[in-house]
Amino acid sequence: MSYSVVVLASGTGSLAQALIEAAQRGATGPASLAALGVDRPCPALDMAKTAGLATFAVYPADFPSRADWDQGLAKAVAVFQPDLVVSAGFMRVLGPAFLERFGDRTINTHPALLPNFPGAHAVRDALAAGVTTTGCTAHQVDAGVDTGPIIAQRAVPIEKGDTEATLHERIKVQERLMLIEVVAGLACGTIRLPGR
Ligand code: GAR
Repeated sequence: MSYSVVVLASGTGSLAQALIEAAQRGATGPASLAALGVDRPCPALDMAKTAGLATFAVYPADFPSRADWDQGLAKAVAVFQPDLVVSAGFMRVLGPAFLERFGDRTINTHPALLPNFPGAHAVRDALAAGVTTTGCTAHQVDAGVDTGPIIAQRAVPIEKGDTEATLHERIKVQERLMLIEVVAGLACGTIRLPGR
């Protein structure tokens, strides 16, 4: 039985790339990537095209309102009839139309140990707070910002001399592994999302 995954990204797409490679070597169980969608021109789009993945772009500027963009995104994702949607570095909050359609099957990965440091600057915020450990979290998406039910977490110690860039890179090493594990678990049924 196949299990189809759509990934949403806004940045370099290294998490999405890790998922593509994991699926190719059979590390995600029956899960395979159907498409990658972006909300802005970004390296993730080129990466996905190079990998031979279907892509779609849903830019807010092409829609009269945020609600229209949200519906446009839901429509673009629906084309692929995904079993799972993964927000992997997608830097935009998913709206009501999207969540009504896909909220029961959408997860997000975040570079902090939620509920600590939600939002767009999680790594910077953890450094500024002076904590000694941060990490990453996979969670189901709800209407809040990084607030849905937590599925998995990995801790990453903060090292002396860490900058936002060095720390984020170390977090992403764990984040890629966590994401592969979570997608495989969901596809195999060993992890279940609340409400499914
Ligand atoms: C990841 O660390 C992801 O958690 C973060 O963006 C990075 C994407 O990396 N997302 C957020 O901060 C969302 N709040 P990538 O572009 O290399 O895949």
